Amino acid sequence: MKPLEEKLPQEVRRLLKRIGHFTETEETPSYLVGGIVRDLLLGVSNKDLDIVVEGDGIAFAKDLGQKLKREVKTHRQFGTATLFLKDGLKLDIVTARREEYLAPAVLPGVSPGTLRDDLFRRDFTINSLALRIHSEGFEEIVDLFGGEADLQKGLIRILHPKSFIEDPTRIFRAVRLETRYGFQIEPFTLSRLKEALEEKMIERLTPKRRRTELILLFKESDPSKPFHRLNALGVLKHLHPRLSFSKSATRGFDRVHEVLDQWGNSLKPNPFFLRYLCLIQKLSFEDRYALSGSLAMTKKEMRQLMDLRIVQGRIGNLNQLKPSEVYAHLHGLSSEILLFLTITAKEEGSKKRIEKYLMDSRKVRLKITGRDLKTLGIPEGPLYKKILNEVLKSRLDGLLNTKGEELDFAKKNWEKRR
Ligand code: CTP
Repeated sequence: MKPLEEKLPQEVRRLLKRIGHFTETEETPSYLVGGIVRDLLLGVSNKDLDIVVEGDGIAFAKDLGQKLKREVKTHRQFGTATLFLKDGLKLDIVTARREEYLAPAVLPGVSPGTLRDDLFRRDFTINSLALRIHSEGFEEIVDLFGGEADLQKGLIRILHPKSFIEDPTRIFRAVRLETRYGFQIEPFTLSRLKEALEEKMIERLTPKRRRTELILLFKESDPSKPFHRLNALGVLKHLHPRLSFSKSATRGFDRVHEVLDQWGNSLKPNPFFLRYLCLIQKLSFEDRYALSGSLAMTKKEMRQLMDLRIVQGRIGNLNQLKPSEVYAHLHGLSSEILLFLTITAKEEGSKKRIEKYLMDSRKVRLKITGRDLKTLGIPEGPLYKKILNEVLKSRLDGLLNTKGEELDFAKKNWEKRR
């Protein structure tokens, strides 16, 4: 067995051999390319297998899917297909293609090409490596642009000078890979990156593409690292002139790890939005809206920003408040906002109160319902809601425990109102 193969999990090895057989009988050369080859050489695990086919990638994927009895999802306009395999493994198959950037910062037009074309269109040398797939295993690496040497030296290098202009998302990708592997963006690449910033290429990206890059950054195992670097390079300013990566954002990112460990399973917050809130915490509310608008934030996320503005304007030190008052402040807020409030609470007491709300108060349900109020002879109407609300407040403050006590309280409350 060849050494590179040894680094792959057995199921992947078996799968690639089957693909190798298939490739040979079909006489369609295929290659493992991109991130998986890079990570294989670095000894890092990667579950996304990208395969380039010199020929009709879609037909290849369909036949392979049939053989492996796996569903195939095709994207005809890009000449790509995806096969979902066991254990989270994903196989993306593409027709070798040449890309033509019709306008800067816009997704390119594509046409069929050779493996060389396909590798040359890529972002960095370390992502331009390929391995030919054979039934007998891998042959040597196809390294047309010096990717292996750059991997060894730990350098991020573009393949052509206009790379960042054609695709400014590569600015984020360069920083992401640099900080993930402890690499360095080499000097010429860095000068081109800065040139793209000066030419305001980030501003030309669509909001959706900017959002996608932020999501990928937040998914890094230690997202503070790329954000520090993006800040130092002056990239964040191009998302919003007053956006920076503050000390409180760094602390927030660290705390996100802890709150996700503690609350992730029960509250199921969206980690992206939680980290985003930490990132933008120093911006004014107006700046937050402006930035969020330029990042294709959803309506729901925009509403949550509004909720945050309201709750932050109202709550001071929660420690002074009764549980029912804490409940009134926090009820109805999303899990991301609640967790963000625990992350940024200034007093330990306030943090404890929010945690108590999360653990107990938010789950409290009354033992009585409207039907019980009816049996008490209270006429149906909007009053029910008011009375039940008062019962809930007393329950939360620990004044009522049993159903009888709730009923009694409801009756007295009604009598008071008559
Ligand atoms: N690619 C590119 N330019 C981009 C995005 C992707 O050239 N803007 C190429 C790179 O060759 C990359 C491959 O497409 O290796 C696959 O892209 P993707 O899956 O996004 O990246 P990975 O390199 O696998 O990185 P990660 O480990 O972060 O997923």
